Amino acid sequence: MAARAINLRTEYLTEPLGIDELAPRFSWWIDDPRPGARQSAYRVRVASSPDLLERDAPDLWDSGEVASDRQAQIAYAGAALTSRQRAYWDVTLRDAEGARGPASGRATFELGLLARADWSADWITTPIEEPNLTLPPAPILRRGFRLDRPVRRARLYITALGLYEAHLNGRRVGDDYFRPGWTDYQQRLHYQTYDVTAALGPGENALAVLLGDGWYSGRVAHLERGLLYGTRPALLAQLEIEHDDGSTTRLVTDEQWRWSEGPIRAQDLVEGEEYDARREIARWDEAGCDERGFAPVLPRAWPDTALVAAPNEPVRVVRELVPLVEPVRVASSWSRNAYVFDLGQNIAGIARIGVQGPPGATIRLRYAEMLDAEGKLYTANLRSARATDAYTLRGDPAGEVWAPTFTFHGFRYVELSYHEQWEGRLRPLDRGSVTGLALMSATPETGAFTCSDPLVNQLQANIQWGQRGNFLEAPTDCPQRDERLGWTGDAQVFVSTAAFNMDVAAFFTKWTRDCDDAQRPAGQLPSFVPRLHEQNDGGPGWSDARVVCPWEISLAYDDTRLLARHYATMTRWIDWQASTARDGVRCYDGCGYYQGYSDWLALDATWQSRRGATPLDLIGTAYFARSAEIMRRIATTLGHEADAARFARMREEAVAGFNREFVTPAGRLSAQTQTAHLMALAWDLLPESRRAAAFARLLDLLAERDWHLSTGFLGTPLICPVLTRFGRVDLAYRVFGQRDYPGWLFPVGNGATTMWERWNSWTPEAGFGDAGMNSFNHYAYGAIGRWMYDTIAGLALDPARPGYKHVLVAPQPGGGLTHARASLRSLHGPIESGWALDGGDFRVDLLLPPNVTATVTLPDGSVREVAAGRHQFRCPWVAP
Ligand code: BGC
Repeated sequence: MAARAINLRTEYLTEPLGIDELAPRFSWWIDDPRPGARQSAYRVRVASSPDLLERDAPDLWDSGEVASDRQAQIAYAGAALTSRQRAYWDVTLRDAEGARGPASGRATFELGLLARADWSADWITTPIEEPNLTLPPAPILRRGFRLDRPVRRARLYITALGLYEAHLNGRRVGDDYFRPGWTDYQQRLHYQTYDVTAALGPGENALAVLLGDGWYSGRVAHLERGLLYGTRPALLAQLEIEHDDGSTTRLVTDEQWRWSEGPIRAQDLVEGEEYDARREIARWDEAGCDERGFAPVLPRAWPDTALVAAPNEPVRVVRELVPLVEPVRVASSWSRNAYVFDLGQNIAGIARIGVQGPPGATIRLRYAEMLDAEGKLYTANLRSARATDAYTLRGDPAGEVWAPTFTFHGFRYVELSYHEQWEGRLRPLDRGSVTGLALMSATPETGAFTCSDPLVNQLQANIQWGQRGNFLEAPTDCPQRDERLGWTGDAQVFVSTAAFNMDVAAFFTKWTRDCDDAQRPAGQLPSFVPRLHEQNDGGPGWSDARVVCPWEISLAYDDTRLLARHYATMTRWIDWQASTARDGVRCYDGCGYYQGYSDWLALDATWQSRRGATPLDLIGTAYFARSAEIMRRIATTLGHEADAARFARMREEAVAGFNREFVTPAGRLSAQTQTAHLMALAWDLLPESRRAAAFARLLDLLAERDWHLSTGFLGTPLICPVLTRFGRVDLAYRVFGQRDYPGWLFPVGNGATTMWERWNSWTPEAGFGDAGMNSFNHYAYGAIGRWMYDTIAGLALDPARPGYKHVLVAPQPGGGLTHARASLRSLHGPIESGWALDGGDFRVDLLLPPNVTATVTLPDGSVREVAAGRHQFRCPWVAP
């Protein structure tokens, strides 16, 4: 038996194409079923051809044999990588005994275009420019070309200001959506690389591209279209073809391209899309298209922005959902022929329809997360988002299938309707007429949690769906209304849960750069990233995402390079916080900068419905102390000792300010809110001697509400961890397990399939909450997920050995649960940890991958250190 590396990845991706990282990092899992299996050495070989690897002549890099148990974040250190470089790599391991195993399978990575000079393409555009209030059609830009030799390899390098969907010879290139993605286009633009070898051949070929508005020139949040980055989408594409004989052909966007309007008559990410199938152009994406209706494209100057490879996974369809029941006919305001389809799950994405009828008949699609009391779509919470699509039939007797290209919606219900003139002339709609396509940045799913309570399992599903519905290029607040912004506060509270559910390393690598782009010259980070307008600091709990997110990602994925690369910007951010604090206190009255959103949507508000009762300066100071502490840890991790000492002093000053301003001489917190006590306890803001009393007071505050929370976005994630840490996991379960309002399980009991924005987004007594702010797909309160994984199931990372190299297994039963388990496809391999009440015993089952160790703490207090393999432990069950 021997150790072999599997699941080889480069920069978190499998076989990435077109990266621009010059020192890409490698990682692998280890296949070695022996108990205690461990890696004692590795050797990575990187070559420019498979053949050289075969002959053990790696021309790019040979790490040599390195005595190390590292299996992740190993940075390439070979010959300088250049544009288009394709590299083949493998790795050979020595096991615990020093025996060398077989080489792994071969993996690849490929560089993109590293310099502006690599691009011979020119930017092109069309004259379409609609006034702000009208949605423009999506133009087709195309170019036919002839190849006279067979193709050995072909790459399409492509991007747009706007969104593109490329087609080659009648086939769509890739299955990604909304490319090139969302960045602050004034600063950074992503391009993509596609392997299109199989799509090309000798003879006539054609490349055709649809161009949409997307975030670039469409509506973003409540803004009218065209106000943020630009008004007219543009395209840049470079097709590089290598022939069998080594010669090359290059086809680039230039003035030889032609454009035409096509069947997409109107399109916008937020508003929706209109498609008229009668306007389809025959062979539009193939050779032999009649181009008489096409006009020459217009040149466009190179935008003054950095053109870089996208480091993150593309948006893809991650689930297809079919309605479980037949549609229900409702009389809608639009038409008496309206049918409501229930997908049974709230998603972000699009609907694909299958219909049949006469040419010119139009099907209108509307979307909603909820139905009102009469069974009609509840759309008030979409605010100004029209979220309406329309499809006009070409009249194909065989039926027509359509889904939009340049829009998405947040919905569970789809309404299809048509004008009465078409009554009886369309094939009757049924369950099969609609399929829901859930779209998200295709971050691989990594985590699972189950336990003996079906409501808690549904909560877990809702948290995961909240993530699916919102991790789309940026961690957005919600996918349905006219908002969909990368709200920093929401991201910050949820990031560690997110990193459990899915592999979000590449996603946050991208968003952390977005944070750099959004950061103000003086150091502030706005409340949403990418930035929407000239906002400065996002305030406590929001702008702190600047340090919290990279820190949590570095822990989950052992990514110190992320910290190193953003160390300067993170430092600038905390320095701004420090320089605008007064004696350690932030957000004091009259401070002159934004004091924040408070404990957003907390239930203890007395003066304004959206902000809780915890004072802004208290929250500002508590967060300042916490972020200074995170910066101290980051500096320590990176070996910046002097900085670490400086950040430690910064924290001390904030803690002193906190105690001076917000603790009475008698030792009570001046703010009698759950959140004030939670922050003080979670982040060690009080002297030891005062913690017990503060904890007792927290219990009083919870008891006053009959063990219900009254917290908002910032306080909520702290409740169960604080109760657990201070020895009252029983009370954590009590608050967590409340089935009535307010609590995590209340929406679940009322049929929720995602996380709601508010505890009272809907109640049986009052119906829908304030429509101005009432999303049914808002992941923030899903931050409880981390506690479910690490405390209920007992699978936690060890900050001292990040990336789950060492795991802390300490399940804490309670809440009447009889079993729970979690699994995680971690950086170092798949981990499973679960427990069950088994014949009077508490039994723990643990599976650790090779090279990973764990400290197991059982409820009876016994502790064991274990290595790779399957383990089972028992102790007497003590009913908590
Ligand atoms: C968003 C939130 C966000 C909040 C800040 C809302 O509009 O939907 O999720 O964090 O504003 O106050």
